Amino acid sequence: MLNKIKEKFIKDIRQAKDLKELEEICRCCLGRKGELTKILRSLKDLSGEERKEKGQIANQIKKELENLFQEKKLRFTNDLPHRQTNWIDVTAPGILPDQGHLHPLTLVQKEIEEIFQSMGFSVVDGPEVETEQYNFNALNVPKDHPARDLWDTFWLKDLDLLLRTHTSPVQARYMEKNNPPLRIIVPGRCFRHEATDATHDVQFYQFEGLMVGKKVSAVNFKGIIEEFFKQFFKSDVKVRLRPSYFPFVEPGFEVDVKRNGDWLEIMGAGMVHPNVFKEVGYNPNNWQGFAFGAGLERLAMIKYQIDDIRLFYSSDLRFLNQF
Ligand code: PHE
Repeated sequence: MLNKIKEKFIKDIRQAKDLKELEEICRCCLGRKGELTKILRSLKDLSGEERKEKGQIANQIKKELENLFQEKKLRFTNDLPHRQTNWIDVTAPGILPDQGHLHPLTLVQKEIEEIFQSMGFSVVDGPEVETEQYNFNALNVPKDHPARDLWDTFWLKDLDLLLRTHTSPVQARYMEKNNPPLRIIVPGRCFRHEATDATHDVQFYQFEGLMVGKKVSAVNFKGIIEEFFKQFFKSDVKVRLRPSYFPFVEPGFEVDVKRNGDWLEIMGAGMVHPNVFKEVGYNPNNWQGFAFGAGLERLAMIKYQIDDIRLFYSSDLRFLNQF
């Protein structure tokens, strides 16, 4: 009799599908009018020896069942789905972990590097904290030259150092250490002490280009830059050069690209000034070349139709996740 009750309840407990069912089973077994409770109560009518023997067994079974109830109850009250059911649904859709991705400016920089590398240019970099010598003097902008006003400079206090205002100093650094002919591209961060607005920020990226050889001409420049824009914008583009002034080139141009019917000013460029060649130890009678410098954000903004440069540095996921 007692063993039968025990087996029945063990089976019921095992089959209970939720907490409510389990509690109902518990009540039928150990509740005030439960089957086991009734038996325990009836023990008092038995004779001494029998009472002792049956009492021991009944109390043992009571303990066992109580433990089983408790154990099973824990499964239902714990939140974890596999605890509740004791099995794992391997077909349930998983929770995808968030995955990072490259910043739009990094993507654009990589793309630019790849296009120029395919045309034989090497990628080079230089320091963001520069000397006056490389940022200005070596580029034909001596002290007190009015052209210094073209770049609003962050000077580092008490030191002959500044935050580079353009990537052009790397032209001089590279030519000093390497012999022509050469072709380099220099992506990097620059700084200007300017008011921030939708198209200006105190920090921004530029990429500099420099090609020097025996007969490198402005025609070569136009051909190379047209090919670059064609690959970058993945369409045929019209490029025009307008006369402009930068102290380290002669002649200097502004490069415009036609997009959707409008001419957009995209970069400064020109033929390397003889004084720059002299400064780095090249004989300007033997060598000639072109240089250009463009804003990376500006190119990214045109390509992806972004209307505010500050978005790049805002860490706003609504913006960043679109890339
Ligand atoms: N360094 C110039 C600027 O930042 C751009 C430039 C580079 C112009 C190379 C000519 C040649 O304004």
